[in-house]
Amino acid sequence: MSHVIEMLNIRKEFPGIVANDDITLQVEQGEIHAILGENGAGKSTLMSILFGLYHADKGIIKVRGKEVHISSPNDASDLGIGMVHQHFQLVQNFTVTENIILGREGSFVLDRKSAASKIKALSEQYGLKIDPNSKIEDITVGMQQRVEILKMLYRDAEILIFDEPTAVLTPQEIDELMQIMRNLIKEGKSIILITHKLNEIKAVADRCTVIRRGKMIGVVEVAGTSQAKMAAMMVGRPVSFKVDKKPAKPGKPVLELKDVNVMNIKKVLGVKNFSLQVREHEIVGIAGVDGNGQSELVEAISGLRPVASGTISINGNDITHISIRARNEAGLGHIPEDRQKRGLVMTAPLSANMVIKEYYRPPFSKYGILNEDLINKHAQDICDAFDVRSGEGIESLAGKLSGGNQQKAIVGREMALEPDLIIAVQPTRGLDVGAIEYIHKRLVEHRDKGHAVLLVSFELDEIFNLSDRIAVMNSGELIDVVETSATDEEKVGLMMAGVKSKEVTA
Ligand SMILES: Nc1ncnc2c1ncn2[C@@H]1O[C@H](COP(=O)(O)OP(=O)(O)OP(=O)(O)O)[C@@H](O)[C@H]1O
Ligand SMILES: [Mg+2]
Repeated sequence: MSHVIEMLNIRKEFPGIVANDDITLQVEQGEIHAILGENGAGKSTLMSILFGLYHADKGIIKVRGKEVHISSPNDASDLGIGMVHQHFQLVQNFTVTENIILGREGSFVLDRKSAASKIKALSEQYGLKIDPNSKIEDITVGMQQRVEILKMLYRDAEILIFDEPTAVLTPQEIDELMQIMRNLIKEGKSIILITHKLNEIKAVADRCTVIRRGKMIGVVEVAGTSQAKMAAMMVGRPVSFKVDKKPAKPGKPVLELKDVNVMNIKKVLGVKNFSLQVREHEIVGIAGVDGNGQSELVEAISGLRPVASGTISINGNDITHISIRARNEAGLGHIPEDRQKRGLVMTAPLSANMVIKEYYRPPFSKYGILNEDLINKHAQDICDAFDVRSGEGIESLAGKLSGGNQQKAIVGREMALEPDLIIAVQPTRGLDVGAIEYIHKRLVEHRDKGHAVLLVSFELDEIFNLSDRIAVMNSGELIDVVETSATDEEKVGLMMAGVKSKEVTA
């Protein structure tokens, strides 16, 4: 086997942290090579170096055996290296074809027709099912990702880098992506795959390089290595995949939704006559395929979207029409779906981000004067408790943190508020298995203190692991609410497709 890519003894420092410390990565021609490592381990940094976005302080890169200097993404592209970023770089109101040829051809007017037919041919060759004439804004996130894949193929990339490609996908789309990756390999490509999901590594990867805190731990053959072994290598201790929890002791209702109707972006009802209670000392999980009204429901409860009719109350107080700040004060905490847009101010330091909901009131602020010592201590406590890692500690700008560390910071901030009700939307998206274990424990602890948790997740594993009851949504409607102990994944799967539980058990 020959190596298509060799990154030898790579070092990269950022202020306060060695992100890559003597890392070596060797990728063979025709393999899917996974990179596994904790949040902040240095995976994205390593790939950014390979793609010419960062420069290594030390080390050598070889492509097909020849030493190269990659100083820009254009250099990388000329060497046949392509990358799908976690945040897509597409122009929303352009078509697929326009996005793919953008920045590539000298003139935009140029032969769009022949570009479109090349794109169509590539799409068919790799089973991507993309219409070159669709507008980006009209296609799903999964399809947008395929446009990014097409962009690489259109530029004749041979070595494809995927940085956490499945974090934004639904389970169905993930299966399809795995198939697409296999097709790419069949056609002679090589793939570097970063993912936190061990089952995905098991499903498609040949070998896996494990890194921890900037250092390389080892390379394993995936077929002969268990998920538990890989997890332990990465975290440095055994990881438990099951959550230990005692039976719920539900008390009085904390969140109460009565006949709630909410319009969606398209101005049709996204949530229909929705009634649900989440009680003290209880975790209720909302199961459903993405796009069945979960976002609208959460936005209505958290005050980001108006309610068309019906009422929402917390601890018996009607909050249907009050401001977001008033809702927070009424006892609501929210771990939002989109951490970049709603969770953190990327250009502000962590310290400020950790008091974003409380800075204006005592103890953080008195007579209009901020108590910086207290704010800093609060931020430091959250970072310690939730193991938020960054180069410059609480002074780091939120945007400089690795994706998973951003997520841990948001979860920590919301939990520190000790809200009576916490809405947790995909709370472990982008987290390593060690961090998932920790966040799950904390959510159960929150429940055990007598609080209510409303969990929204597209991962049935997570729903089953955490929830005391499961509420299934389909097309904006509540199909049913069931006790977790009285159901299974198959039944919930059917309900997610719109079949009521009475019909399921019948
Ligand atoms: N531009 C930057 N400036 C300063 N520090 C940075 C920068 N980019 C990354 N870092 C730091 O380098 C370390 C490694 O980050 P990196 O993004 O490579 O981690 P990762 O392994 O991809 O983690 P995750 O799984 O959370 O995405 C982190 O501590 C991060 O805060
Ligand atoms: Mg990363």
